[in-house]
Amino acid sequence: MRQKIVAGNWKMNTTLAEGIELVNQIVGKIEEVPQDVKLIVNTPFTHLFPVSKIIGDIKCPFCRSKISLGAQNCADKEKGAYTGEVSAKMLASVSKAVGTVAGAPEGATGAPVEYVILGHSERRGYYGETNAILLEKIKLALSEGLKVIYCVGEALEERKAGKHFEVVGNEIKEVLFNLSPEQMKNIVVAYEPIWAIGTGETATKEQAQEIHEFIRKTLAEKFGALAEETSILYGGSCKPSNAKELFSQKDIDGGLIGGASLKADDFIAIAKSF
Ligand code: 13P
Repeated sequence: MRQKIVAGNWKMNTTLAEGIELVNQIVGKIEEVPQDVKLIVNTPFTHLFPVSKIIGDIKCPFCRSKISLGAQNCADKEKGAYTGEVSAKMLASVSKAVGTVAGAPEGATGAPVEYVILGHSERRGYYGETNAILLEKIKLALSEGLKVIYCVGEALEERKAGKHFEVVGNEIKEVLFNLSPEQMKNIVVAYEPIWAIGTGETATKEQAQEIHEFIRKTLAEKFGALAEETSILYGGSCKPSNAKELFSQKDIDGGLIGGASLKADDFIAIAKSF
């Protein structure tokens, strides 16, 4: 059984106070989330530490197991003189620090930063992240025990020119085909057509299923049966009104949600759409 996932990508939104309020609202509704669905909140770096504590403090183990914490990026270098960068090792260290805060109970730890989003089209487009750079980031993230939500997707012109399979296929082959099967077990793939991100325009369920099936077949060329175990998420204007028809498709295992993940009610409604 593939893991069903609804991951929120908060992008560069919310002040710290607003982010804490949002995650508290999500946690307040966590009982509504089906037990077989995993929520992931991918917050800005500044929010990881307090959110790690909030999630770590969830008392009920069934509820705690339904939500994980993630980041939105990490550096392609291990450490050193790279002003402004945040390393995979730093992300992996966040939860351990929760127990060191004055007044924390003996042995307290927060929720680990378990996931990191890499390969988002905004990072590829605005910050020049190539497949080669992304492969370095992924290897470092995996070596620190993080799981990776690896994003792929084509631009509108590429779809219009019928090149979407080629573009997505290359993003898979040039990056994920360099991983071992053991590493691949810690990868979630997210298909996000660039023309659907933040535009209100969603891929039809047929368009999305077609390319998700293609991604799974491509992964199978290298990883065989493991491709059947890999969760492949859809992203791009996914919201409560369209999540159900998208998630009903055979090869769509959930969503990577931007705008709608900033409202707790919408995010939870999407998680209830399987
Ligand atoms: P929207 O849901 O706002 O279209 O964003 C999708 C996305 O880019 C998630 O990573």
